[in-house]
Amino acid sequence: MQYEKEIRPVIIPDGQTVNLVEHWTDRLFSFRVTRPKSLRFRSGEFVMIGLLKDDGKPLLRAYSIASPSWDDELEFYSIKVQDGPLTSRLQHIQPGDKIILRPKPVGTLVHDALLPGKRIWLFSTGTGIAPFASLARDPQTYENYEHVILTHTCRDLNELAYGERLVMQIKNDPLIGEMAREKLIYYPTTTRETSVTTGRITTRLEDGTLFEDLGVTDFGAEYDRAMVCGSIGLNTDMKRIFKTFHMNEGANSSPAHFVLEKAFVG
Ligand code: A2P
Repeated sequence: MQYEKEIRPVIIPDGQTVNLVEHWTDRLFSFRVTRPKSLRFRSGEFVMIGLLKDDGKPLLRAYSIASPSWDDELEFYSIKVQDGPLTSRLQHIQPGDKIILRPKPVGTLVHDALLPGKRIWLFSTGTGIAPFASLARDPQTYENYEHVILTHTCRDLNELAYGERLVMQIKNDPLIGEMAREKLIYYPTTTRETSVTTGRITTRLEDGTLFEDLGVTDFGAEYDRAMVCGSIGLNTDMKRIFKTFHMNEGANSSPAHFVLEKAFVG
């Protein structure tokens, strides 16, 4: 891709090198960068990444790591905000460019924050699928649960492409493919284009169509664990819905039934 010289990222001598950039739609792209040897993280966590501004100061935002903890590279999935301070520039990175990465992973979408259960529900909207792209590629997710349900809600069908390829690759993966073919259920929905499953996931939870579609009759605190990643509004709505099922919010220090994180954009 060609771009104007003035928006080319400033050289970052000790940054991580971009190895691959994929543009999914005019609003979404993903990229893979080198992983610092010393960086250890738990699948589902996020780090601060960014670029140097023209004044030489770093401009950083929180990004969930989309690759699993065993991967040699780090993958990120991002929105492109045309007037966003970071993503207006980050969307122009190319292989060989460098980005800044602060190697201090944190976050609540981790197995440690949930009590043992039978089913884990990974509820995502938009780029909120990123931490689940990590968790759904982590063998521990399949070892911990009998069923792994990944829901992804986007505006239109095009925006589901990243998740669709992810699920296909997981099911064909030599390491986790067999477990995933047995346990992983992918449930995409669209809100602004008609599809097999149209509507917000919150609506489908509340009217019961999600459970009907999947044949689940006993959703609740006894068997079900959930992670949520999307907008602030999604978090608020999901929290309210979980309360109706007597499910409590967990944290690293006090595991419970569900955890929430927002997808960070800018
Ligand atoms: P909608 O089209 O009804 O706003 P975005 O691309 O703006 O990040 O949104 C991603 C998806 O998340 C959209 O399909 C959007 O639906 C949905 N969404 C936004 N807010 C909520 C919410 N509070 N609960 C459930 N889904 C939501």
